[in-house]
Amino acid sequence: MTSQLFIDGARLYRSLAALGELGAFTDPHSGLRGVCRLALTAEDGAGRRHVVEQMREAGLTVRVDRIGNVFGRRAGLDDRLRPVMLGSHIDSVATAGRFDGCLGVLGGLEVVRTLNDAGRATLRPLVVAFFTDEEGARFGTDMLGSAVATGRIALEDAHALRDRNGLSVRDELAAIGFLGDDPPRLPAPFAYLECHVEQGPVLRAAGLDLGVVAGVQGICWHELTIVGKAAHAGTTPMALRADAGVAASRINLALRDLVASGRFGAEFRATMGVLLPHPGLVNVVPGEVTATVDLRNPDSALLDAAEAAIIAFYAEAARMEGVTVTHRRTARTPYVGFDAELGRRIAAAADARGLSHAGIVSGAGHDAQELARLCPAAMIFVPGEHDGISHNPRELSTERQCADGVNVLLDVACALADAPATPEDQP
Ligand code: GLV
Ligand code: MN
Ligand code: MN
Repeated sequence: MTSQLFIDGARLYRSLAALGELGAFTDPHSGLRGVCRLALTAEDGAGRRHVVEQMREAGLTVRVDRIGNVFGRRAGLDDRLRPVMLGSHIDSVATAGRFDGCLGVLGGLEVVRTLNDAGRATLRPLVVAFFTDEEGARFGTDMLGSAVATGRIALEDAHALRDRNGLSVRDELAAIGFLGDDPPRLPAPFAYLECHVEQGPVLRAAGLDLGVVAGVQGICWHELTIVGKAAHAGTTPMALRADAGVAASRINLALRDLVASGRFGAEFRATMGVLLPHPGLVNVVPGEVTATVDLRNPDSALLDAAEAAIIAFYAEAARMEGVTVTHRRTARTPYVGFDAELGRRIAAAADARGLSHAGIVSGAGHDAQELARLCPAAMIFVPGEHDGISHNPRELSTERQCADGVNVLLDVACALADAPATPEDQP
């Protein structure tokens, strides 16, 4: 019986450590090892080649599509049936730990290794996938590869995105050797499963082993360009200034006020994560600021309302400071609910292994929310230590926590991969 199989937790943890060495840096403040594998950099390329090699060693047939998504396939007994896909991402923010995304990809690979070791075939193929630029930290749009694969973003638009140095997604894919040949639109899998670190404090604080993810909250990102007048800090009277830095600060504080107003619900979150003054000198009034706004809300209507409110404030801040504020919406996804039946299967598999669990809504964006457009999709969350801190070198889930999540991934993946053909499976 499938539930008698156990993944090799030590092997999984070693594989997370090995991938974590690619793009690793030592944080000067904490002395901790962190990871910087921004999408399509040389470090991401090294991480990708490493994982592809591991996929091939596990017997998977690897294909790359035109947005650089990578799919490693293990044949099924009936290989014409739609596959069960296990995936996530291996790109990172600039200040990451080694678990975000990597657990879902290397966990999928560990499922395959476990099946290989046991000589266990599945009726349907299994595909382990990693998607390009889930983080959006370099090119500004999150879940980029999975959004292209599922038709939300056009390939041409994705290829044309540029980073702060003007380098395009298309050229950078080519530069690291991952501008693949496969068509960008993914044929619908039978189901998609993603195991991921929670990236928050809830599961650990509640003493739970796992989270069964009900859905992902809505996300809205803006990139702001605020243009005032650069001037000498000592000689320019205050009344004559058009200080782009002050306008940015007003917008940042307005975000806080919107949250405090309670008008957008108790779960509303707002962040200005980038605030770059130009020229950025002690004695120059900032003539220009580049900034970002990140809004999150599980209620899509309240997210829309909050976005409208902050857009109205951009005009207000511009008027108050005599600057111009232009904004570009770089990401917008609504609340996405996951498949309830898959959620029940995850809960049942956790019960069968004696693992405690509860339903949880994801605060972070994930590739699974894009795949949910194509097929039944679900996520398993693993708790994190240190209040579940993430996007930070202190990010940590233990070997046990990771193994619990991937054992449940194994159980649910196997059961789904043995599901008989349905009318939607091509003959
Ligand atoms: C992805 O990590 C996000 O910003 O939610
Ligand atoms: Mn992630
Ligand atoms: Mn992340």
